[in-house]
Amino acid sequence: MSSNNESIGKTLGVVIGLCLVCAVVVSAASVQLRPLQQANKIEDVQRNILAAAGFNDVTDVKATFGTNIESRVINMKTGDFVDVDPMSFDFEMTKFDDTRSIALSKADDIAGVQRMTNNSPVYLSKDENGNVASVILPIQGYGLWGVMFGFLALDSDGQTINAIQFYKHNETAGLGGEIQNPKWTATWAGKSLPIDIVKGTSDGDANKIDGLSGATLTSVGVDNTIDFWTGNTGFGPFLAKVRKGALN
Ligand SMILES: Cc1cc2nc3c(=O)[nH]c(=O)nc-3n(C[C@H](O)[C@H](O)[C@H](O)COP(=O)(O)O)c2cc1C
Repeated sequence: MSSNNESIGKTLGVVIGLCLVCAVVVSAASVQLRPLQQANKIEDVQRNILAAAGFNDVTDVKATFGTNIESRVINMKTGDFVDVDPMSFDFEMTKFDDTRSIALSKADDIAGVQRMTNNSPVYLSKDENGNVASVILPIQGYGLWGVMFGFLALDSDGQTINAIQFYKHNETAGLGGEIQNPKWTATWAGKSLPIDIVKGTSDGDANKIDGLSGATLTSVGVDNTIDFWTGNTGFGPFLAKVRKGALN
């Protein structure tokens, strides 16, 4: 014989109660963990900027970043430094704010970023004498499957590539995902802008990089990304000043 405890009403009550408790626990955990997730995101970006600047396997990211990297914000049109807190700058948010970004024409938008922000952060790594050793530029552009995010580190001459570092993308592991392979990224060091990623071998040409085999479309995406960000719609005006010795 069924007791009162086994009635449909009671069972539903227990299920709904349990659902409510779980929902409250999950929501509370999500709210509580948000600052930690934000801090981890910032640390990951800083770790990648440090890697682009040549600081690898860093244990204390915050301290190493604080000591060795200066974060600045520039006006993309003029290439001048502007007085904006780099920590307050969020490219993804700013990009969709009409007052702080502009829509790009199809012809200009070779990296598929849609809009360009009026300002952008840049990162300067200093040597032991306080001179700028590397200018690290945030870059992003379409590969085959989605947007690839990274950093391009240039020498203080604004021309020579020190490093390239991708930290987020949707390319296929073993194919386009090889953009993160240290063996491939090492081939960028010492090359000079403008860069052309070629199918096959670059034959030691200072302006050419070997394309990734089996990943021509991703390689084209990286090529377009570099052309875009080092060109006039990207960091071109800033790089023109860097090339005239604006940093040291
Ligand atoms: C499942 C799958 C995943 C692929 N992923 C990529 C990729 O991430 N990047 C890429 O350029 N090509 C990728 N390709 C290959 C492209 O379709 C295309 O064949 C290739 O870019 C041509 O490069 P290749 O001329 O160097 O062979 C993928 C193909 C398949 C079937």
